[in-house]
Amino acid sequence: TWTMLNIVEDAVEAVRKQIGPEGRAICALSGGVDSAVAAAIVQRAIGDRLTCVFVDHGLLRKGEAEQVERDFVAATGVNLRVVDASDQFLKALEGVTEPEEKRKIIGREFIRVFEDEQRAILAGADGAVDFLVQGTLYPDVVESGGGTGTANIKSHHNVGGLPDDLAFELVEPLRTLFKDEVRRAGEELGLPAAMVWRQPFPGPGLGIRIIGAVTRERLEILREADAIAREELSRAGLDRDIWQCPVVLLADVRSVGVQGDGRTYGHPVVLRPVTSEDAMTADWARVPYDVLSRISTRITNEVREINRVVLDVTSKPPGTIEWE
Ligand code: XMP
Repeated sequence: TWTMLNIVEDAVEAVRKQIGPEGRAICALSGGVDSAVAAAIVQRAIGDRLTCVFVDHGLLRKGEAEQVERDFVAATGVNLRVVDASDQFLKALEGVTEPEEKRKIIGREFIRVFEDEQRAILAGADGAVDFLVQGTLYPDVVESGGGTGTANIKSHHNVGGLPDDLAFELVEPLRTLFKDEVRRAGEELGLPAAMVWRQPFPGPGLGIRIIGAVTRERLEILREADAIAREELSRAGLDRDIWQCPVVLLADVRSVGVQGDGRTYGHPVVLRPVTSEDAMTADWARVPYDVLSRISTRITNEVREINRVVLDVTSKPPGTIEWE
């Protein structure tokens, strides 16, 4: 729309002014809409003087890394460095089952990898990178008291700050916008629809949807099951009705099943479709039985290790949306 075009143009102009004709900036992409739209705006403002970093922690869902590496780059022409850090994350997570411990490890490793990248970029640019782009939204600004402060990788993992030797001035082009405005800005900027309309997905990713220790094999199982659930929910036209639908792998649980002539002893996955306004409270979504049935049939047919699909019918409170 005309107004959205103006909001985008104003944001681009403001960034151009803040960064100046020589300034350089970096931005961490998470796969989510906020960092993508923020980066796209800054790219319009300063072009190749922006370098984006995508840390692939190996905990994303099927197709999401490609959306960033291929589709987002194609749509924006952004200068992107991809770091495949999945080995490092999996190693750090080895044997860890406690949810908060998982979150801490993932946040810590993310900062480590991102800092290494920053140092490499700084070295290549003779230290002339002064700006860090963040996809902070208006509700985040209000929640944190409104001040601009030191850099904080909040958008990705809600943890930590940066050490003093990596001090940047923050560029926050979405500071005055609400989520729906960010999505419309993303459309205006021509970003991939799957990114613009992505439902909430936690920074620690599938790492907190495997109940039990995280392994490459378990991630692969969950990724397949999750992709089927998302595909069927989309096909049924339920994307806008449902806030999100975590698929959770009960990796340490096994149950007996039967398939063809044979007994199976596989894992269950939990479907957790919810409706919500703001994620503070939620209700379990009344997904039509035929859609649930298709998801269940497909997952148990197509994912060999899964022989049971169960539905979570708990509201929040008392249950949180995620299982960890
Ligand atoms: P819960 O499980 O607390 O989730 O009801 C509320 C919303 O927040 C998302 N979530 C996270 N997002 N980092 C994030 O960026 C996290 O560590 C995290 N944990 C939960 C969750 O998907 C839901 O939308």
